[in-house]
Amino acid sequence: MTNQLLRKKSLELLRQESEDSSLKRSLGVFDLTMLGIGAIIGTGIFVLTGEAAAGTDHALGAGPALTISFVVTGLACLFAALCYAEFASMIPISGSAYTYSYSSFGEIFAWIIGWDLILEYAVGNVAVAIGWSGYFKNLVDGFGIHLPGYLSAATGTPMVELPSGLWVPISPAVEATYGATLATFPTETALINLPAFLITIAISTLLYIGIQESARVNAILVIIKLALVGIFLFYGIPHFAPTTYWEPFAPNGWKGIMTGAALVFFAYVGFDAVSTTSEEARNPQRDLPIAMIGALVICTLLYIAVAAVLTGMVPLSVLANEKPVAEALVSVGENNVALLIAIGVTLTMPTVLLVMQLGQIRILYTMSRDGLLSEKLSRVHRRFATPSFATVIVGLFVALLAGTIDISVAAELTNIGTLFAFVLVAIGIWILRVRRPDAPRKFRAPAYQVVCSLCILICTSLMLALPLVTWVRFLAWMGLGVLVYFAYGVRHSKLARTGEL
Ligand code: ALA
Repeated sequence: MTNQLLRKKSLELLRQESEDSSLKRSLGVFDLTMLGIGAIIGTGIFVLTGEAAAGTDHALGAGPALTISFVVTGLACLFAALCYAEFASMIPISGSAYTYSYSSFGEIFAWIIGWDLILEYAVGNVAVAIGWSGYFKNLVDGFGIHLPGYLSAATGTPMVELPSGLWVPISPAVEATYGATLATFPTETALINLPAFLITIAISTLLYIGIQESARVNAILVIIKLALVGIFLFYGIPHFAPTTYWEPFAPNGWKGIMTGAALVFFAYVGFDAVSTTSEEARNPQRDLPIAMIGALVICTLLYIAVAAVLTGMVPLSVLANEKPVAEALVSVGENNVALLIAIGVTLTMPTVLLVMQLGQIRILYTMSRDGLLSEKLSRVHRRFATPSFATVIVGLFVALLAGTIDISVAAELTNIGTLFAFVLVAIGIWILRVRRPDAPRKFRAPAYQVVCSLCILICTSLMLALPLVTWVRFLAWMGLGVLVYFAYGVRHSKLARTGEL
């Protein structure tokens, strides 16, 4: 039985599968880097930064030391990226960490990581859709269209209508702003976050009919995104006043910094999505490592700059909301720039949804091809040539959750799931270096013992900084996954049938 659970795919078999892939190899290093940045920059920097700096009901804020949180998280991701890069240069298959685990740990671990990746990609997209909804709602509000409270937040959220007509969740920041008069405003309970639900359905429909994100459209949107970050820095830096706003720098000490780091980790999620395009890259073994590390380094530098300027230009109370970048600009009188950023974010954030949704579909497709999930999930639509069933299932799953749950629940679950994947990938690299030292690797992580140890250490510390309730949800999800494996995968595995161990 143990042999069965630990059956592994050999590197040779995986390389053969990669050569046999029927997907079209058209992506070069530029496209891959742009895909990486397209998946990275989104909700994390434009939405979650505010709460990570100012804190929430159940999480301590980092304060201006959020800049340090971004450095800590950036380092963890850099170590993880070096490990992913080495794997991608050895195993150019679309399953990402799932496939890597299949060759280093064996089937049961591969299954666990595949199940876990649902938290990264599908649940991650839930958070992105909710983040997008916040920007969209505020944008249409600026044009005088007020979305009713019951259609604009997670199920059960208490909402209040502000004098401007905008419905917002009742939060400590809103209570502080309006004080006793708040009790006189109309209130209602939210039923569904309709924009978050609809954007997911729209993206899934595009993916179903085969309008995949073309590398060129993605590249254009990424350039707009980078320009938005540049514009924010350009207009924010003249208001940067650290002597006023960086005192105290770390109001909640190291604990606040680590809690903030665990939350903004979400901003980095996505660089590894590049590895799910392995079968469409022209030269995956050379280009994927360059693209993953390149995209990550560019985004890390930008994030550190944004965090420093944001916390150094306004008091923390201005940031405690779902659109901190726009609010900070409004608060220093840059209303037009704030509007431009809000429009730009609304336009470009869907690239994150598209790339992550594609990644999720591709991972389910690979797992189904291996027999661990129903073969329907790898069925390709005759006319559109897309994995249509997997697209519908992922679309409904993400849309329903995006319409009903809270952004911090989704983001924290994504973070714990992704951090877990990073830890296993780092352990996997170590195992293969010992077990298969001579296997061809076009990219080798330097000083791998140090890189892997630091990746494991920082990622585990970040996991431990997440709230207990996130751990309970994570363990419940993983427990469910193990049950599903024993009810289905263990008997349907293709590897079991071919007998390779
Ligand atoms: N890193 C992506 C974002 O922040 C998931 O939206």
